[in-house]
Amino acid sequence: MKTQAFIIERFGDESVLQWRDVELPAPGKGEVLIRHTAIGVNFVDIYMRQGGHTRLPLPATLGVEGAGVIEAVGAGVSAFAPGDRVGYAGGGKPGSYAIRRVRTTEGLIRLPSWLDDQTAAAALSKGMTVEYLFNRTHKVKAGEHILITAAAGGVGLIACQWLKALGAVSIGTVSTQEKADLARANGCDHVIVTPRQNVVEETMRITSGRGVDVVYDSIGRDTWRDSLECVRPLGLVVCFGAASGPPPPFDMLEDGSRKSVFVTRATTANYQTTDEIRHKSAENLFAMMQSGKVKIKAGRTYPLRDLPQAHADIASRKTTGSVVLLP
Ligand SMILES: NC(=O)c1ccc[n+]([C@@H]2O[C@H](COP(=O)([O-])OP(=O)(O)OC[C@H]3O[C@@H](n4cnc5c(N)ncnc54)[C@H](OP(=O)(O)O)[C@@H]3O)[C@@H](O)[C@H]2O)c1
Repeated sequence: MKTQAFIIERFGDESVLQWRDVELPAPGKGEVLIRHTAIGVNFVDIYMRQGGHTRLPLPATLGVEGAGVIEAVGAGVSAFAPGDRVGYAGGGKPGSYAIRRVRTTEGLIRLPSWLDDQTAAAALSKGMTVEYLFNRTHKVKAGEHILITAAAGGVGLIACQWLKALGAVSIGTVSTQEKADLARANGCDHVIVTPRQNVVEETMRITSGRGVDVVYDSIGRDTWRDSLECVRPLGLVVCFGAASGPPPPFDMLEDGSRKSVFVTRATTANYQTTDEIRHKSAENLFAMMQSGKVKIKAGRTYPLRDLPQAHADIASRKTTGSVVLLP
């Protein structure tokens, strides 16, 4: 069977994303054929396209998140059948930037009837990330002060609502007034607009000089020093992304001695390790969505063919919320 997909043959800017006809094999043992109906775009796809920390063997199709319908199943697949609506965010190999794909059942999540495909593609990867960051990296408690970067982004808008639901006091950083308004509308208690406002000064003002209990930093190089300044003594700084580049090395004596902070690098690969864990994470996310405490919808959709433009817009900080491609 033929399908169409974006292929990269080398690492680089958006121009390496080439739309091609590709031959699809029939699903093998433990595999399914999925026709995508909505595809989530994630910042990690940009790191992968650039050949940053994860260098895929080439040629490759990128994309870690999708939703769609199973059209065929391979030998040994009993948990899924043709016609099932499914989504995935991790598990198996990348390859969601395609109209159809064959992938293993690892990481497949049955979509509940109340959840439409476009919302699933907006919610799964970013929502399950927030789930593990707030339940497992650190169990966020009511009254804690939490600083989150890129508060109007895909992960950010979900995080703001989730923190509000937990009763934490959220401080979000954003780069424009429009993004500040959006973060506030999604429950962010205090918004700092950078670089107009100084993140450390504002955070110390809001926390009466104490510092926040936890910083969730997804920007890396440009924000890391400030994140270490903003956390309280014995607090936790979580690096869960590096949108501006890798953070500088942590100097155990110099940086560590000042406040004896805890530092961790949180990755989906280390947290969402089995289907049991992924399904539990998705259940927790779905419960938050069904309760109405966390509302998720695509901030912006693009036709699948406009993927290079979507990548360019995310990388140049033009998008807000989750970005979803429509095949
Ligand atoms: N560790 C994990 O498991 C995991 C899982 C999912 C996502 N993530 C990370 O979470 C972050 C958010 O992901 P997302 O897909 O939802 O993206 P996003 O937040 O929608 O987009 C990235 C945002 O980062 C901010 N940013 C600051 N400096 C930037 C720079 N130099 N270049 C580009 N953006 C910059 C921008 O917001 P402002 O303009 O408001 O600053 C931008 O909108 C990413 O770092 C991603 O890698 C981590």
